[in-house]
Order: sequence, then structure tokens, then C-alpha cells
Amino acid sequence: MTSYQSDITAIVGAQWGDEGKGKITDFFAGNSDYVVRFHGGNNAGHTVIVDGETYKLHLIPSGIVYGSPVSIIANGVVVDPKALIDEIAYVINKGITPKLMVSDRAHVIMPYHIALDSVLSGHQAKLAAGSTGRGIAPVYADKMFRNGIRIIDLLEPDIFKEKLKKGYSFSKNLIEKALGGTFDISMDSIYDDYIEYGNKLNSYVCDTSVELFNAHKSGKSILFEGAQGISLDVDHGIYPYTTSSNTAAGHISTGTGVSFRDIGKIIGVVKAYLSRVGESPLPTEIHGEEANNLREKGAEYGTTTGRPRRVGWLDLVQVRQAVRVNGLTEIALTKLDILNGFKTLPICISYEIEGKQVKEMPASLHDYRCAKPVYTSLPGWGDLPNNIWDMGFDALPKTMKEYISYIETEVECPVKIISVGPQRHETILR
Ligand code: IMP
Repeated sequence: MTSYQSDITAIVGAQWGDEGKGKITDFFAGNSDYVVRFHGGNNAGHTVIVDGETYKLHLIPSGIVYGSPVSIIANGVVVDPKALIDEIAYVINKGITPKLMVSDRAHVIMPYHIALDSVLSGHQAKLAAGSTGRGIAPVYADKMFRNGIRIIDLLEPDIFKEKLKKGYSFSKNLIEKALGGTFDISMDSIYDDYIEYGNKLNSYVCDTSVELFNAHKSGKSILFEGAQGISLDVDHGIYPYTTSSNTAAGHISTGTGVSFRDIGKIIGVVKAYLSRVGESPLPTEIHGEEANNLREKGAEYGTTTGRPRRVGWLDLVQVRQAVRVNGLTEIALTKLDILNGFKTLPICISYEIEGKQVKEMPASLHDYRCAKPVYTSLPGWGDLPNNIWDMGFDALPKTMKEYISYIETEVECPVKIISVGPQRHETILR
């Protein structure tokens, strides 16, 4: 196993999230000077296994487990300060001294955002995305309403009070008067708690855009760590079954203040099958015993919510869109080992929608609800030798190489990283 590095690399999800980005990020993080989250919040769940030790992270970039890179939570991320303080304590407890910077411009998740999230999903009924309940949609909505509280505000008590009055009364009215819920936490107690959170986080807060600009200028390497996946992107995903941020690589610029001109390599992480936590139509979903086997073998349970994930076959209509929208320069294909032992492996190459063959993700929810997967079935492979990662690409079973090459041809993007196990070393580079 060798490793390589370009100055600025981005890693993004090419499906519904949970593709194994944590592992791929961690694989590159050791050679990076900075590892940066640019969107989303603690709705994300990244699992990294190093030397047999499992780390479950939600907000802090996965690179933290290395110790040497600086971890940055940039302005596009929404921060639950209590969750961040707890996660800092979690990594310190694991023996890591966090080198962490948090953008002064990042928006803050408030208790009323979390309350709103649950009231909203009831209100949205069949069109609710099955949110993680972390307040993500309400905090991004408040940002756009210009009711938001930013990290910097927690360090300026008078400004915080002024802004909190506006945001608090807006959300309380929304919860109670418009949506028929209740919100009983007083403004004074929120004020006291959040001023304290600000004090605890103060030493991590800075202008992370300037930090990254100077780092890039002086030749430092930067890794952008995406959360969620393309089908959860609020513009390009299966709206309204999406998250509330842009998950696509294009958001790196606005979410960090680093120009898109500077980004070199964009790696899309594709799991060799599909999983989805939350609601939405899912054309390649499988059910019953076959699904249970795949779920158990792949340990497909939400890192953030613990919910059993829905599972299905690889959908190349989705990956094709991920390649185009993100401008992927390469694919990292993960969890291939979970498919060991399947006699045949169906891959969805297009949808049939009311008699028409469709190769691109439809915008129409009606069409997506009607989409029937059109499959190609490829022969599977048996068990892999224990140390397959040391033997390189050529040693992979012929049928696995054909599976990989089929994907490359269909989506027009090279698969350069192949992951055959959860640990960092269980990786093959081409
Ligand atoms: P929210 O981001 O909590 O508002 O949830 C919106 C949708 O995105 C729901 O379907 C969630 O299950 C899904 N989602 C959010 N974050 C993740 C993630 O990190 N992995 C997978 N699904 C996610």
C-alpha cells in the first residue's frame, strides 16, 4: 500500500451518505496539514477505525484521530456548541490533543432549532425526510431568514442578547402559534448556557478562511471532508427528502471561503451497494432476508441515530449524477468485501419511468416515485484472501475487476481507491 497527496483534495459522498467517507478521509488525513468540514452539522456520522480503535465522530473532521493535522470546522458548518464540547471531551478521552479551529462565521444550533425539527417533521408528514432531529433544517432556515446566531456572537454578550431576542421569539412563535407545539426553555437560561459554551470554545474560534488562504499560499496541503451524499444535496438531491445543505463539492468555496479554482482532486466515495437512513423513494431498495443479510454483514445502522439503514443494489444513475455535479476526478469504491459470496450482483444502470428509459436522476418527484430500476447482473466473487490489500489490484478476483471496470465505463470516472475492510490498511490504490 502506498499513498499519495495533492495540495487540495476534496472527498464527497456520491450516494445517500454513509458511503465510508470517514475511512477514506482518514486514509488521506495523515498526509494533510488541514482537514476541513465545510457543510452540515452533527447530523453526520463518520466512523474511523485505527489500530483496532473505533472513533465515531459527528462534527469534528475525521482527521482529528491522526493528531498532526489541524481540524477545521468552517463557516458552512452548523455547530451545536454543546455537541462540539462533548465531542472535544470524547477525543481528549481517547488520548488525542485536538488541534481544532472553528469558524467565527459558523451558525449555531439553538435549542429552539432542535424543538422545531421534531414539530416540523410531523407537519411535513409524508414529505418529511426523516431528519436526524439535530435542528439542521431550522438552523439553515434561520441563517437565510437572517435570524441566525453565529459563533462570534457567543463571544459578544450584548450582541448575543440582541440577536437571541429576535431568533428566540421568532422560533417560539413558529413552534407554538403556527405549528401547535410547545417550547418551554426560557430565553434567560439559553443565554446563560450559550455564553458559557462560548467561553469554553473561545480558544478555538478564528477566521478560518484567512487561515486556509495563508496555509494554501505557503504550500500546505488541505483535505476537505464532505458529509452526507449527493442525493441529500438540497439542490441536486431528491428534494424534499434531502438534508438542508449543499453536499456537492461546489459548496466548498462558499462553505470555507477557499476559491474553487484552488481545488485539485475531487474524490467521490461510492459504496459497492446502497444504504439510506431516512425517508424517500429508493428505486433499488431490497427487502426481506436478502436485505437483512446485507444490513447485518455491512453493519448498516445509522452512526448518528442508530436507525437500521434501508439497503439496496448499487444505483449508477445516482453515481453518474455525482460524477457530473461534483466534477469527480476519481472514485473510491468502498465495502467491496461485504459483497463477497454473492453469486450475482445486480447493478442499476437506468430507470424505466412510465415506459421510458432514463439515465439521469429525474427532478420530478412523480417520476422518481415511479422509477423502476433496470439492472445488469454481473457474476460475483467468493472470499478474499486475508491480506488482499498487500497484494495489490492485480491480485483481485477477475470478476471483481470486471465489476469495477463496468462501473468506470458506465459513469465515466476511474475507480482509483478500493476499500476491502474497515481499517485504514485494508485499502488498495491503483
Ligand atoms: P437532517 O439533515 O437531519 O435534516 O435530515 C435530512 C435527511 O438527511 C434525512 O433523511 C436524514 O436521515 C439524512 N441524513 C442527514 N445526515 C446524514 C448522514 O450523515 N448520513 C446519512 N443520511 C443523513
